[in-house]
This record gives sequence, C-alpha cells and structure tokens, in this order.
Amino acid sequence: MTEVPDHLLARSRARRAALGLGGEGGGEATPAAEAAGAEVEKAGPTAAAKPAAAAVPAEVAPKAPEPLAPYVEANVRRKKIPYWAMPVLAFFPVWGVLYAQTLSKPPATAASQLDAGAVLYANKCASCHGGAGGGGVGRQLSGGEVLKTFPNIEQQMEFVRLGDAGFDGKPYGDPSREGGARTGGGFGSARMPAFKDSLTQTELFEVVRYEREKLGGEKVDAKALPDGPDGKRAHANGKPYLTDAGVLVTSDGKELFDKDGKLTTPETVLGTEASSSG
Ligand code: HEC
Repeated sequence: MTEVPDHLLARSRARRAALGLGGEGGGEATPAAEAAGAEVEKAGPTAAAKPAAAAVPAEVAPKAPEPLAPYVEANVRRKKIPYWAMPVLAFFPVWGVLYAQTLSKPPATAASQLDAGAVLYANKCASCHGGAGGGGVGRQLSGGEVLKTFPNIEQQMEFVRLGDAGFDGKPYGDPSREGGARTGGGFGSARMPAFKDSLTQTELFEVVRYEREKLGGEKVDAKALPDGPDGKRAHANGKPYLTDAGVLVTSDGKELFDKDGKLTTPETVLGTEASSSG
C-alpha cells in the first residue's frame, strides 16, 4: 500500500485553506488523506496524485469564455475593407509608377531635323560662322543675313555642297541681294569648304534648315510643316523634301541635285517654289 506523501497533504491543506474550503484546520486533513489513500488502493499512484493536483491550479483550470471587451467587439463588428477592393489597392503602386512616369520627360525619340541640324552645325560650321551664326572667319548667317543671300533653301544647299570653290569669282545667291550679289571667294582669306562628300543629303537638309530657321529667323509656312513646327519640313505643296532613301527631291519628286552636286532645277522655278517668306 502506498502512502500519500506528507508534502502533498500539506499543500492540499494549504490550498483548501486559501480557498476557504478547509475552515476547521488540520483536523479535516486526516479524513481527506484517508479518502485519498483509499482511492490510491484502487487506482494506483497516478490517480492518487490527482485530487491534490486538481486542487492546485485553480487559476489554470479551463475558464468559461469571457465576454469580449467593448473595444474588441467594436473591432470585430466594424466594417472592413471588402475583398473586391484588394485588386484595386494592389493596383495603387502600379498607378504610382505610371503617374510618376507622366511627370518625367518622355524618352528621347529620334532627333528632329532641326535638333540634328543643331548638332551638325555645332560640329562642322560653328568654328567659322560662330555658335549663334554671328560670323567670324565665315560670313554672318544670323539676323536674316543668310536669307537675304538665299531666298530659297535649295540654292543655299547647293552652295554648302559645293563650297565657295564651286562659285569661284562668280556670283552666288540672289543677284539683287541688298548690298550687291555675293561672289565666291570674296570674303577675306578664309574659304567655305565643300560639304558634298562629308554631309549626306539628309544632313545637308538638316544643317541648312537649322541655319535658316534657327539662326536666320526664317518663318516657314505651316503648309510646309505638316507635322508641326518641330516636324519634317516639306515643300510648299506639302510634298516631302527627302525620300525614304534620303535623297533630296523637288516638289514633283525629281532629284534635286545632279552627280556634280549642282541643282537640277532652274532658279526661276526655285524662286516661285520657296515655301517661305520673311
Ligand atoms: C573653314 C571655315 C568655314 C566652315 C567650317 C564653314 N564655312 Fe560657311 N562660309 C565660310 C566662308 C569664308 C564663307 C564666305 C564665302 C564667300 O563669300 O565666298 C562662308 C559662307 C557660307 C554661307 C553663305 C553665307 C552668305 O550669306 O553668303 C553659308 C550658307 C555657309 N557658309 C554655310 C556653312 C555651313 C552649313 C557650314 C557647315 C556645314 C559651313 N558654312 C562651314 C567659311 C566656313
């Protein structure tokens, strides 16, 4: 027969006293211990420990579910963001990125003719004609000067292709130019190089456009700019100057230059064809 250890009985007693169950003191403990002992005889040592053990963790025993605190209940009951809104919320970062992109500059597309012309001018012409076309070793282009010499763009392109050597001692440009017609080789000791081989026809058109429109202040008719002021320049009748292959053509589609780099079009036609007026 197994005895209930004294320390367990003592703890049981203390516990009962604490809970107000064993009011009569130690006298009560003995019958309880005897009952426990009797139990032990039937069920063994584990069962014997139980009554005492059960009495100990009074606070640990399973409690009835406590009523929810009002603030917890409010949280449970409150309206939540509906599930259908989740994709909308998930889209917000994407929207943020898209929005940010509208604020930044659009990615650079192919340079416009005038932008390309500006780069060409800076690299190949500015050293003699000045960054703003004010002149120097080369003649002044700004302030309408270049437009006085070349009322139409075609003759200016021809001059740039051939250089002043192409007009050595001969007049070029408008013969009735204010201050007299220009003469090839008549501007100091410097010479105007021929750009026939160092500029493609597309580049020639771009740089001459830049000189006329940006430096010379030429006003181009809206009909000659069907794609807007920064678009490609066309003839006065809206036909393109450049073919897809990059060949300069007249308003009726014939090549503008012959093999030698000279204009194929008579000056009289060019005069009437000029798409611009001051
Ligand atoms: C080495 C110096 C030099 C460079 C580089 C140069 N030019 Fe000239 N340019 C001249 C000189 C000098 C003249 C005057 C020629 C003359 O009157 O005989 C001239 C004249 C001109 C004229 C005629 C102006 C007028 O009203 O008579 C045009 C247009 C012109 N140049 C365009 C260009 C272009 C376009 C480039 C670059 C692709 C260029 N030049 C590069 C020296 C230069």
